[in-house]
Amino acid sequence: MGTLVSPSILSADFAHLAKDIEMLNRSDADWIHADVMDGVFVPNISFGFPVLKYVHELTQKPLDVHLMIVQPEKFIHEVKSIGAKVMNVHYEACPHIHRVIQQIREAGMEPAVTLNPGTPVHILDDIIRDLYMVLVMSVNPGFGGQAFIPHSLEKVAQLKELILRTGSDALIEVDGGVNHETGAALVAAGADVLVAGSVVFGSADSEKTIGELKSLKRT
Ligand code: DX5
Ligand code: ZN
Repeated sequence: MGTLVSPSILSADFAHLAKDIEMLNRSDADWIHADVMDGVFVPNISFGFPVLKYVHELTQKPLDVHLMIVQPEKFIHEVKSIGAKVMNVHYEACPHIHRVIQQIREAGMEPAVTLNPGTPVHILDDIIRDLYMVLVMSVNPGFGGQAFIPHSLEKVAQLKELILRTGSDALIEVDGGVNHETGAALVAAGADVLVAGSVVFGSADSEKTIGELKSLKRT
């Protein structure tokens, strides 16, 4: 089975965003990853719902929305209204994570929980069966183009073990510093979905790069 690829539009050309979305539409990308930042949870601000509304109008690809914001549960309605398939919330931003997961499902979206590099996998023990996906951050969130944290490979393997042990069917997505080399190692460790920002948009042939990441064989 090929790997799912979710290109991150944080690295797109915002002066010509429609052109980059058209490229993604032509490509074999499975989803489009959208990084929303609030300058509080992470030390950067990106884009919000007015921009994502247009992205949704320009593509049929499912949106994979990654909220790097405090109190993400306040925005469940907005995330749904821009057509999101997956709503990723950070574990560190949600004291009532179980409730938020239920609310996302009730709103008709797939719930995913994101872990920062410093957050251990075992905190998912009591929610892993309720999740569509876990997003493992392999950089500290806030910026594209950062170096991959090698320990993330171990976390992916631990998470795979937790999923198999509990009979969960959660997917494993990894975000940050993904390229051909780290992508291959992540898929070998158990990753199902690769988020890819700078490697895709910095490539001379973005569609080809997406195809190459997709061709990594999942175990
Ligand atoms: C980082 C974001 C990522 C980012 C990845 O905070 O969550 O989605 O776009 O960028 P690359 O692939 O360049 O590391
Ligand atoms: Zn992201």
